[in-house]
Amino acid sequence: MNASDSIDPELATPRYHHLLVTGGAGFLGSNFVRFVLTRFPDVRVTVLDALTYAGKRENLAGLTDGTAARLHFVHGDIRDAALVDALLERDRIDAIVHYAAESHNDNAIYGPEPFIDTNVKGTFVLLEAARRYHLRFHHISTDEVYGDLPLDASTARERFTEESPYRPSSPYSASKASSDMLVRAWHRTYGLPVTITNCSNNYGPYQHVEKFIPRQITNILTGRRAKLYGTGLNVRDWIHVEDQCAAVWEVLNRGRAGETYLIGADGERNNREVLGEILRALGREPDDYETVADRPGHDRRYAIDAGKLMSELGWRPQHRDFSEGLAATVEWYRTHEEWWRGDKEATEAAAARRGQ
Ligand code: NAD
Ligand code: DAU
Repeated sequence: MNASDSIDPELATPRYHHLLVTGGAGFLGSNFVRFVLTRFPDVRVTVLDALTYAGKRENLAGLTDGTAARLHFVHGDIRDAALVDALLERDRIDAIVHYAAESHNDNAIYGPEPFIDTNVKGTFVLLEAARRYHLRFHHISTDEVYGDLPLDASTARERFTEESPYRPSSPYSASKASSDMLVRAWHRTYGLPVTITNCSNNYGPYQHVEKFIPRQITNILTGRRAKLYGTGLNVRDWIHVEDQCAAVWEVLNRGRAGETYLIGADGERNNREVLGEILRALGREPDDYETVADRPGHDRRYAIDAGKLMSELGWRPQHRDFSEGLAATVEWYRTHEEWWRGDKEATEAAAARRGQ
């Protein structure tokens, strides 16, 4: 199945035609840029990305000539207000889709400052620019702003909704919650037409090897053992990255200003279960892993109720079979070693220093 076959043909028609996508060289951002450029021939995209350790220019390579001609890549920082202003004006941007962030919890625990700088200050700079140019602003956020849910069976039906209280528990999620608060305030105070999506854990191609699924796959592929934090019973709610792209597209084009929409695909699984599937896909024994030091403050469970997104905008996840999506992801990493090999040693060295 190729990307376009898997997506509901009833996607919203574009309301905005010149998008600025921040963080468009990262995992979610690059998937979103491909999603848009390959489906909507009348939409142009300017990517602004600082190419930190997590961003790669080649994540946007390989587009056909006609598609690539509608992509403009700018290597720069979202905190650079003069650069942002110049791009908005030059490329006649009519909407900002803000993906850029420091995104990895473990990094935030051991060095929180860049998270405050990029996630909070960077969002502020973009909001101010959007205000000056009267632009539509879509903010990409995370379910982690709601903290975590208990693991006991009696609360198994509890899920996050748009009404859940903000209770971030880690430096990363606190920085994302802070940015959400700024976005909401710019709507209320200045009338900026904003929307926010808070999404659960994505999986799929182009995810950095520091994250759980790619790390385990590439550990096995490089002859290391898979590494499970703590008991391995923590639960994440997995969604294929393409489904996230479609949801953001719907909210950008048809969402109501000032609103928050949660994105999730009923993909709850504990880490041991996910690892079990990876080991099976790579022909390993189910117990071929080691447990390592737990993440301090490790959130127990995330679970999303995406009812508002479904009932209001008609979005539905298309990748409903997690095992199938995971097997395709394993295959992608197996066949794209040149993409991840350069990051692997440094990522593992950093994890080893943390006892992980
Ligand atoms: P990522 O780390 O893969 O990519 C982040 C991108 O932002 C990189 O390309 C990086 O170079 C760029 N960037 C970082 N700082 C920048 C700066 N100061 N200026 C310009 N560019 C900068 O992250 P991701 O997993 O793709 O996450 C993207 C967004 O989605 C983040 O806002 C994250 O909070 C959110 N999110 C991610 C997930 C997930 O499962 N990955 C789930 C929910 C929400
Ligand atoms: O919920 C959305 C969030 O999902 C996003 O906002 C974040 O940007 C994204 O990184 C992700 O956060 P998590 O902390 O849930 O993802 P991570 O891949 O780091 O870890 C997933 C789970 O796996 C978590 O319970 C920790 C565990 N883990 C992680 C690694 C890297 C392990 O057991 N072993 C590992 O080696």
